[in-house]
Amino acid sequence: MKIFAHRGASGAFPENTIAAFKEASYLPVYGVEFDVHMTADDELVVIHDEKINRTSTGKGYVKDKTLTELKSYDFGSWFSPDFTGETIPTLQEVLEVFCGTDHILNIELKSDIFPYEGMVEKVITNVTDMQMESRVVLSSFDHGAIQLAKKLAPSIETGALFMEVLVNPVDYIRNIPADALHVLFPAAIRPSMRELFESGIPVRTFTVNDENYARMLQQAGVEAIFTDYPEKMHALLKDH
Ligand code: G3P
Ligand code: CA
Repeated sequence: MKIFAHRGASGAFPENTIAAFKEASYLPVYGVEFDVHMTADDELVVIHDEKINRTSTGKGYVKDKTLTELKSYDFGSWFSPDFTGETIPTLQEVLEVFCGTDHILNIELKSDIFPYEGMVEKVITNVTDMQMESRVVLSSFDHGAIQLAKKLAPSIETGALFMEVLVNPVDYIRNIPADALHVLFPAAIRPSMRELFESGIPVRTFTVNDENYARMLQQAGVEAIFTDYPEKMHALLKDH
């Protein structure tokens, strides 16, 4: 079973920061996941929440601030004083961290919260400018965004995100169309998922930090997990 470092190596480093991504870039894991929002001046930034309140010294929505404003806040000290000075990374800055590695990069488009106009096109431009198409998976809870991504850049892999399982998941995924299904942990082992495992469509599950659950998912046929503890999970699963 493959491992994605969720929001970078976010168990030990502040999520979605260059520190968390550099740490992930040293690890022998399959991939790294991170989240993208868009600023008031249409820049792509890597952060999970639509607001900066939880993970920075600032307050307010990403969409209402320029990149320069966002860069003035500290995104490391909320996690630990050791990381004071971390700033919000742009998508390009994160892609640059992985230029010299072979990690797969799962970029989650957070357009399900606010409909960031032009986001899909901009992300694809960033990825193609860096010639990273073959190493990227674009995912979103906004299935319209991944439908558009597949139309604009058919060679880039896509994953549809779900909190729950559908009655006919294979038909749904093929109709979008998407290449994979990314689903919240408990839903991945429901009986209706068997149809998906048999179809060959990759099933990837988030967020798995517990060793027993990881083993259960591996046995069920899950292709990959997203975890905040990639180093620990790699040590656990590498011999299986
Ligand atoms: O992409 C998997 C997972 O990251 C989706 O949930 O809330 O952590 O972005 P969330
Ligand atoms: Ca995410």
